[in-house]
Amino acid sequence: MTRSRSDWWRRATIYQVYIRSFADANGDGEGDIAGLLRRLPYLRDLGVDAIWINPWYPSPLNDGGYDVADYRDIDPRFGDLAQAKELIDHAHALDLKVVLDIVPNHSSSEHTWFQDALRAAPGSPERARYIFRDGSGPNGDQPPNNWRSVFGGPAWERITEPDGSPGQWYFHIFDVTQPDLDWTNPEVRDEFLSVLRFWFDLGVDGFRIDVAHGMVKDMEAPDLPYDESNLLDSPQIADHPFFDRDGVHEIYRGWRQVADAYDPPRLFVAEAWVEAPERLARYLRDDELHSAFNFDYLKAAWSAEALRVSIEQSVTVLGSVGAPATWVLENHDVERVVTRYGRTDTTGGTVQQRSDERLFDEDLGRRRARAAALLMLALPGGAYVYQGQELGLPEVIDLPDEALQDPVWERSQHTERGRDGCRVPLPWTSGGPSYGFGPGGSWLPQPAEWGAMSVEAQDGDPGSMLELYRSALRIRNTHAGLASDTITWRDLGSDVLAFDRSDGFVCVVNLGAAPVPLPEHRQVLLTSGPLNADGHLPADTSAWLVTT
Ligand code: NOJ
Repeated sequence: MTRSRSDWWRRATIYQVYIRSFADANGDGEGDIAGLLRRLPYLRDLGVDAIWINPWYPSPLNDGGYDVADYRDIDPRFGDLAQAKELIDHAHALDLKVVLDIVPNHSSSEHTWFQDALRAAPGSPERARYIFRDGSGPNGDQPPNNWRSVFGGPAWERITEPDGSPGQWYFHIFDVTQPDLDWTNPEVRDEFLSVLRFWFDLGVDGFRIDVAHGMVKDMEAPDLPYDESNLLDSPQIADHPFFDRDGVHEIYRGWRQVADAYDPPRLFVAEAWVEAPERLARYLRDDELHSAFNFDYLKAAWSAEALRVSIEQSVTVLGSVGAPATWVLENHDVERVVTRYGRTDTTGGTVQQRSDERLFDEDLGRRRARAAALLMLALPGGAYVYQGQELGLPEVIDLPDEALQDPVWERSQHTERGRDGCRVPLPWTSGGPSYGFGPGGSWLPQPAEWGAMSVEAQDGDPGSMLELYRSALRIRNTHAGLASDTITWRDLGSDVLAFDRSDGFVCVVNLGAAPVPLPEHRQVLLTSGPLNADGHLPADTSAWLVTT
C-alpha cells in the first residue's frame, strides 16, 4: 500500500539484517550476500517494506563492521560489488527497498587514510583527516585530556612516529581501531558526499547514519566529570564536547541535497542517542534527515504510563517538524526484548545502560514481547524489526567468555559482556548444522533451544511469534485505519493503553495484572494471546479490534 510512494518510509516496516548472522551460503560460519539473496522471499512474505543491512564493507570486523576500511567496496567474507548490485535489483523486483549503513564518525585504522596518516608527519594534510594532538605532561606522554571511549578506557591512543619516536595521540570515541575523522576538514566532508553518491548510483534507497549525533566536536572543551566506579560512564551533560553538537545539522543539510537530487529521493534515518525528543526533532527538520530511531521508546519500561508518555511526546514533538515517529524495540546493540521484558527492570538501552540482572522469566518476557509487537505495529509512523525479533529469540546470556567478540568485553576489563548475545546467527531449520544458518558452523555458538525457535519450527504454527508477526504485518499493510497519521487515546484505566486509529481500528494493550473487558467492537482482528472465556483481555496481552 505504501510501497510505490516516494515517501514510503513514513509508514514503512523496515527489517534489520545483521548480515554476519542472517544466512550463510558459503559455509564459512558467517552470513553473506548470497545467503541473504536466497532468503529475500522470506522477508517479502513476512510483509516488510524494506531491509536495512548493517555494514558490509571491507573491515577487520573489530566492531562488527562499524570499523570500515573501504567505503566503496564489499568485504570478501560477505561477497562482492556485483553480488551487492544483484541483491539490490532482486530486492527491488520483490518490492523491497534497500537501506545501507554509513559510518561517518570514524573509519577503521586499516583505512588507507589512517595508514597514510601514520606514515606522514605531524601537521601534514594526511594527519588532518583525523584528530591528532600532542600529548599533555612534560614529555607529551599523557593523553591530551581525560575523555573516555564509549567502549571503556581512554579515548586517546598514542602512536609511534615514522622515525620510531613516541608520537602524537589520536582521538577515538569507540574502539582504538576506530579513529575519529575530523569533520572540520572539507576533504572529509567531500569524501562522504561522494560515498553517498556511489551507493545511490548503485540503486540503494537510503542510509542509516551511524552515530549521527557524533562527527562535530569541541576539542578545546575541558575534562569531563566521570563516575570513577563505572568504566563505561558517559556523562549526560548539556553541551557535550562530542555528542549532539549544533554544528552537525549543517552536514545533514548538505546530505539532504544529495539525496533529493535522485529520483525517487533517497532516505536517511539517524541513529542519534540524544537526551530528549526535542533534540531528536532538530535532526528531522524539513531540510535535514527524514527519520530517526526512537530510542526513547526503546528505553521505556513495560508500563502503561512510561509507554504512553513516550508515544505521546514522540508523536507530538516529531510531528511539529513534520516527521513521523519511528518505533524500535530491538537492534544489534541492545538486549533482546523477550529477555528484557522478562526482568524486573524492564527499561532498555545501550550496553552501558542495560540491566545487569542475570535472571529473567522467559515466558513472561515472550508474552509481553508478543503484546509489544502488536502495540508497536499499530502506532502511526515507521517501525523496525531486528532479525530474530519475529522469532522471539531471547538474548543469549551464557555465551562462553572465549566466544565473545564485542570490543566492549576487553575494553571494560571484562566487566561488561557486550552485545554478542543479540547477534547469535539465526536458526532457519529445526536441526542440521547451525540450524540452517548455513552448511557449516556459526561464528557465535547457537544455544540448543535454537532449533525449536527456528523459522521451520514456527512456520504454520498459529501460536508462534513468526505467525503473529506475519498476521500483524498483513493487517498493517492492508487496513486503511493503519495508513493514517492519527492516534486518539481512550481511557480504559491506568494500566491499559488503548487508542483509535482511523476507520474503526482500535488497539488495546493490558499492562496491568488483572484481566480487563474489551471496549465495544464489531470484530477482533488479532490478539497477541488467547482472550479469557468471558472475552476479557488478560494481563500482558494486546488486541486489535474494529468498531465499525
Ligand atoms: C552504533 C552501532 O550501532 C554500534 O554497533 C557501533 O559499535 C557504534 N555505533 C560505533 O560505530
